[in-house]
Amino acid sequence: MAARDEKGRPLGDDTITGLLLTLLFAGQHTSAVLATWTGVLLLENPRHLGPVLAEQAAVLGAQGMTLAALKQLATLERSIKEAERMHPPLVMLMRKVIEDFEFNGHVVPAGDLAMVSPAVSHGIPEIFSDPVRFDPERFAPPREEDRRTPYALIGFGGGKHRCIGLAFAYQQVKVIWSILLKRYAFRLLGEEHRPNFATFVVGPRQPCLVSYRCR
Ligand code: HEM
Repeated sequence: MAARDEKGRPLGDDTITGLLLTLLFAGQHTSAVLATWTGVLLLENPRHLGPVLAEQAAVLGAQGMTLAALKQLATLERSIKEAERMHPPLVMLMRKVIEDFEFNGHVVPAGDLAMVSPAVSHGIPEIFSDPVRFDPERFAPPREEDRRTPYALIGFGGGKHRCIGLAFAYQQVKVIWSILLKRYAFRLLGEEHRPNFATFVVGPRQPCLVSYRCR
């Protein structure tokens, strides 16, 4: 709020409000929802939780939680990526069409909305094999399914307006689960957590509860 523009003038209320809205809407709720899905999916799939815990003990146990150590958490990172694929927090990305254009034999007229849905495209079986299965190793070499086609994984958008907060968001989710899993043992209450598409940022339907005990 104390920032000044290049001519030394204070920012107007609208600018400050806009910047805060951008950060809160673009960055806070989306990250919280991705962190939630990462936890839900890992707890639903204990076979994949074991290697995440082992990685944390090996990497963070030896180095503490430094930036360099966080970068080495490849197993956790693939689980976050799989959460992004299976449950992208933003399910519709839209653009207003400025000029008529043709796509696949169809003319999309100026004035229309063009839309892409990560929730749909992340389930294309020709790109992501057995897409309903939680399988973080699909991102590991040599499979690297997200490299089969450009824009395969678009939970953070793509092209010119791709999310500027991607690296920060991944880092946050890594920090959150590294701390939580170190301190607590969680158990998910309930099964089959489905997305709540009635909300703008798509988290799990309620109730979505865990029980936990200190490690
Ligand atoms: C899990 C967390 C996040 C998700 C899923 C996410 C998702 C996205 C998506 C899908 C877009 C593209 C929208 C479009 O093409 O219409 C986008 C853009 C953007 N994101 Fe994120 N985001 C996340 C975290 C963040 C964070 C932490 C920040 C800021 C610190 C941020 C700031 C932005 C901004 C400013 C844009 C607009 C970029 C532009 O239009 O050029 N996001 N985000």
